[in-house]
Amino acid sequence: MVSILNFLPIFLAIILILILNITSKKFKAYKQTQEAKPTPKSIQFLHTHSRKIIYILTILSVIGIYFFYAATGRDPTKDTINTYGVVAVVLLFITLIPGLLQVYFAGFILNPLLVYARKAIGVSAFMFAFFHGLRNLIAYNVSLTTILSLPGQRPLAIILAAIALVILSLLALTSITKIEKGMGYKKWKWFHRTIYIVFVLIMFHIFIMAPKLQLLSSFSIVVNSFIVFFVLIEIEATSIKFRQKERTKLQNILFHIFLAGIIVFTFYQSYVWIKV
Ligand code: HEM
Repeated sequence: MVSILNFLPIFLAIILILILNITSKKFKAYKQTQEAKPTPKSIQFLHTHSRKIIYILTILSVIGIYFFYAATGRDPTKDTINTYGVVAVVLLFITLIPGLLQVYFAGFILNPLLVYARKAIGVSAFMFAFFHGLRNLIAYNVSLTTILSLPGQRPLAIILAAIALVILSLLALTSITKIEKGMGYKKWKWFHRTIYIVFVLIMFHIFIMAPKLQLLSSFSIVVNSFIVFFVLIEIEATSIKFRQKERTKLQNILFHIFLAGIIVFTFYQSYVWIKV
């Protein structure tokens, strides 16, 4: 059953994007063309070593999460693997933030640091996703027959997640500086845009595999609002960037119809996902 409450995430997301637009204009940093300020000397050390720090924190977290659940006295494997999945999704969303800040708050002092650290955050997301996916695949004996015999939409959710994991692995692989340089910037950039496909596949995966997101609760409404909000800011940022380059009128119209289509689809999904 759907009710007026199903509109709540869309409503909250629209309020959030309005606030973001008002604040970013207030900070007069709306145009991406604005010069990025260099990282201040006081935090230069953090900038230079940010990737190493993230890799160390990732390894410590991978181990720490396991021991945290082990300390509760339960079998830690299931909770650990689920948490790895959640951390992977959160980190994937975090990788989008530096790009968005460059559009909305181009003069933000931490932008160069965050853009530099983004690669390590992406690799860290891959590591958590890899451990989560591999452990679950092993639990299904890495057998397509077992996966296909699962109830409801679970087989599809797992197959799509496996495709997402393959793409994530390739993204992590092509983040190795030598391979990145070998590909050339343009090719590399285009390939790394497949991250948006990963998001779509993963969203489908988690809404099927985590039923708590489908049941009406403050948790599911908050998660749903954030997802709609992220889609809206990504669409707006893409539209801002698109308009900064020379385009024909037809290209502009077609591209904006495409973006509008994604918004309509997201609103529809958000409306039907949560069962009241
Ligand atoms: C081969 C790939 C994958 C398999 C076989 C797989 C399998 C699973 C399974 C079985 C669950 C349900 C766990 C439960 O209910 O106890 C689950 C949940 C989940 N998965 Fe995956 N997964 C894969 C890839 C991914 C990837 C790549 C991500 C994220 C980047 C991810 C994120 C999640 C999240 C956030 C949940 C919900 C956890 C929760 O309910 O707390 N999965 N997955």
